[in-house]
Amino acid sequence: MASPAARTAVPPALLALAALVLVLVPAAAAAACSAADRDALLSIRAALTEARLGVFSSWAGTDCCAGWYGVGCDPTDGRVADLSLRGEAEDAVMAPAGRPASGVMSGYISDAVCRLGRLSSLVLADWKQISGPVPSCVATDLPYLRILELPGNRLTGGIPPSVGGLSRLTVLNLADNLLSGPIPGSITTLASLKHLDLANNQLTGRVPADFGKLAMLSRALLRRNRLSGPIPASVSSMPRLADLDMSENQLTGSIPDGLGSGHVLTSLYLGANRLSGSIPASLLRNSGLGILNLSRNDLDGAVPDVFTPRSYFMLLDLSRNRLSGGVPRSLASAAYVGHLDLSHNRLCGAIPAGPPFDHLDADSFCGNTCLCGGPLGKCT
Ligand SMILES: *[C@@H]1O[C@H](CO)[C@@H](O)[C@H](O)[C@H]1NC(C)=O
Repeated sequence: MASPAARTAVPPALLALAALVLVLVPAAAAAACSAADRDALLSIRAALTEARLGVFSSWAGTDCCAGWYGVGCDPTDGRVADLSLRGEAEDAVMAPAGRPASGVMSGYISDAVCRLGRLSSLVLADWKQISGPVPSCVATDLPYLRILELPGNRLTGGIPPSVGGLSRLTVLNLADNLLSGPIPGSITTLASLKHLDLANNQLTGRVPADFGKLAMLSRALLRRNRLSGPIPASVSSMPRLADLDMSENQLTGSIPDGLGSGHVLTSLYLGANRLSGSIPASLLRNSGLGILNLSRNDLDGAVPDVFTPRSYFMLLDLSRNRLSGGVPRSLASAAYVGHLDLSHNRLCGAIPAGPPFDHLDADSFCGNTCLCGGPLGKCT
């Protein structure tokens, strides 16, 4: 019978290997922070003020890759790859800000950010008081950027014109700021872009005509700006577009024919613009579309009678247009219509009977020319 010592004895070759691993692993695991990147971070910090939470209190010592809050490095070379500070995050540093956490930071985004040449994500979100421009060098000096999120601040000035040069960008979120000027035409060259959120700014001018070139784009949120001109026809051919929100702008012209003819579009918000013409049948025929809000436009013509038993609308708001004709008969065959609003149009005739209508009240139909039946009472 072998002694306990013999049983635990380790072959010398394995011991040598273990020693080798012990020597190599620490070196491979954590290259210390690049000194130039650390200097850039300190300049970024110097331009920002956050007093209450001490978000920057961990930014001390020489190794910015070791425990600096919001800083992430490439372990192989110690270059800063991520800078991510969210004013509404749920973590230990943000906990004193309450629940939901809500921090405040003022100051501006230093050009020094552009010296972090290996940055893959730059997130300074929901700090409410960060002002000044989006440094235009971000678009030219940070070619590895995949995520650029600066929403919920008080940023002014324009979107950097050369933003289209950020060929790896997948997320561009500048929502809820005070940005003005146009959506740069170069944006349509962002071949990897999946998520674009520019909502709640003061952007003017047209949506670039070749917006539809953004073949990977799945969410396009442009709500509440001052965009004018037409909805580009090219949006009809975006293979992955699931959510499109262009509401509360000054868009004119008609809704492009064929919009929603693919099956990935799930929500479309175009309310409170100046859109005219009729509602494309392709939209209402699309059984994947669950939210459609076209209210507060100048749409006319009849509501296309193309609903099917596979139609499933959480929200269908066509109110406050100039739609005429009757309530489409086929709508009665829809699988589900949660919130329907056809009020304040020029509709006429009997409201069809059927399950989708049973739970609706008069508000859904009021302010039309001569609708009757259902919640509006008997047709005479
Ligand atoms: C539809 O959009 C308009 C404009 O954005 C908005 O005022 C309205 O509340 C929306 N309708 C619903 C039911 O959310």
